[in-house]
Formats: sequence, structure tokens, C-alpha cells
Amino acid sequence: MNVDISSWRGDWALVTGASCGIGLAFCRALAAEGMNLVLVARRADVLNELAVSLARDAGVKCLVLAHDLSEPDAPTELLRRVGEEGIRIRLLVNNAGAGHWGRFAGASADVHRQLMTLNAVAPVVLCRLFADDLASFKGAAVINLSSPAVYQPVPYMAAYAASKSAVHSFSLALSEEWRSLGVVVQTLVPGPTATEFDARAGAYGSALGEARASVESVVAASLGGLKRGDVLVTTAKGVFGQRIFGGLFPPAFVVRKVAAMFRPPAEH
Ligand SMILES: NC(=O)c1ccc[n+]([C@@H]2O[C@H](COP(=O)([O-])OP(=O)(O)OC[C@H]3O[C@@H](n4cnc5c(N)ncnc54)[C@H](OP(=O)(O)O)[C@@H]3O)[C@@H](O)[C@H]2O)c1
Repeated sequence: MNVDISSWRGDWALVTGASCGIGLAFCRALAAEGMNLVLVARRADVLNELAVSLARDAGVKCLVLAHDLSEPDAPTELLRRVGEEGIRIRLLVNNAGAGHWGRFAGASADVHRQLMTLNAVAPVVLCRLFADDLASFKGAAVINLSSPAVYQPVPYMAAYAASKSAVHSFSLALSEEWRSLGVVVQTLVPGPTATEFDARAGAYGSALGEARASVESVVAASLGGLKRGDVLVTTAKGVFGQRIFGGLFPPAFVVRKVAAMFRPPAEH
């Protein structure tokens, strides 16, 4: 099924991680097409300012729901508040995410629990909670943010790569289950993108290098993919080679090579 967002003017999208980065770019692009927005992230002040600017510049309605999605009850609370406002979600963008670079045991169990809940559990739960809303439309969509980290395990980002692998697998499987409902489920794999993500994740110099795509180019690729009904969209370079490397070479060899790319500088 092909999705043309421009025909969804006046319908509602829910975007997690709306306060900056790729999520913010989604909000701007969707508002420019006339979609109303439920804005979700932790920073209420940033979301409130965004709501004012989107209403002024694009004339759309916004509902700000400041929640921490690493809290297990947050998705249910979002459903409750959206229902209270009489809003039905036609597009769900599961974008909020966080990373953690460095030795696994260098971060506490709580840090890893929060990361897994935010990156892997919340998207699955939100898809389930908003399933009835999505299926009630003639045509709806979900965009789940994956990562090139899913194509092989990543030592020194072990939990992050695992969390994204969970979403990636879930999202592709769901795309087939929901095809007959007219709900396009897109798995979006951005390559390295210019956002606050790396700084927040404690990133250091690595084989990823410095080149970063713009958030606008990632969102344009995603919305272009929806128009074609693509279930997997990537802006990452070298994914084909990565899949062969990660899928066919011996696992011990693969993880040793990847470890050499992501080992903290102090340990080289
Ligand atoms: N940037 C890249 O190179 C890249 C590459 C591949 C995949 N991705 C994926 O793309 C998605 C967006 O990343 P980005 O690069 O735009 O990162 P970003 O600039 O750090 O933005 C992350 C967003 O998630 C929100 N967020 C973080 N923790 C949250 C929490 N506990 N509860 C609710 N919201 C939370 C942040 O808002 P608050 O701080 O206000 O809560 C922010 O709006 C992520 O899923 C990431 O894994 C990014």
C-alpha cells in the first residue's frame, strides 16, 4: 500500500523524541503537510515552544505530552491522554531512542534497563496500544527507528545494538501482519546523522568517522519510502556489505573486527 501524507491533512501523528534531532525534523515535515501532532519527549519546555511555533507557522494543532518512555507505564499514560482528547492516531513515529558507548559493565544495570525499555519495549507497546486507532483508518502507518547497528553485534554498544535488533525484527514482522489491515509499517535505518545522539551517548572517535547526513534527508527518505509503500528504508551506506559480513562470516571473527572499530581510545 502507498501512503501519501499530503492526503492526511487534519489527521493526527504521534511522534516520540519530538524535541530534537530526527524526531523534530519529522514534526516539521508532517506539520508542513498539515498533520496535527502529539509531541512526546521528556523536555516539556522544548515541546511547548515547538507546539507554539508549529501552530503559528503551519496552522496545525499540537498536544504536548512530556513523558519519560524508559518508565514502563508511560505508553499506557500516552494512550489515556490521547483518548481523553478524542484524538485518533493515524501515523505513529517510534523515534525516541538513546545510546551508550563504552564498556558494558562501565554503566549501571539501571542505565541498561532504561535504554532497553526506551529503545525496544516502548515501540512494541505503543504499536499494540494504538493498533485499534491505526486499523480504524483506510490507510495508516507506523515508522520504527532502527539502526545499522542491527546488522552485526556491536561490542562497546552491546545493549544499544541489541535493543535496535529487537525493534528491527519486530517491525519487519509486523509489516507483513498489518499489510492486510492497510497499515504500512516502515523500518527506518538511518546512517550516521547530525543530531545530539552521539554526544548524549558518550561517543568517542571511532571507525564511523565524522560524516553525518542531515535530519531533513533522513525524513525525506522515510516519507518518500511511505509513498512507495517500502517496508524498509535506509540512508546508511554499505548496508549490503554489512549484511554479508555480519551474516556469513564466523561470529567470533565478526565481533573481534567490530570491537576494533568501537574500542574506547584509552584501551587501544
Ligand atoms: N543520529 C544517528 O546517527 C542515528 C543513526 C541510526 C539510528 N538513530 C535512531 O534515530 C532515533 C532518533 O535519534 P536522534 O539521532 O534524533 O537522537 P537525539 O537527537 O538524541 O534525539 C533523541 C530524542 O529522543 C528523546 N528521548 C530520549 N530519551 C527519552 C526518554 N527516556 N523518554 C522520552 N523521550 C526520550 C529526546 O528528547 P528528550 O531529551 O527531551 O527526552 C529526543 O527528542 C533514535 O531511535 C536513534 O537510535 C540515530
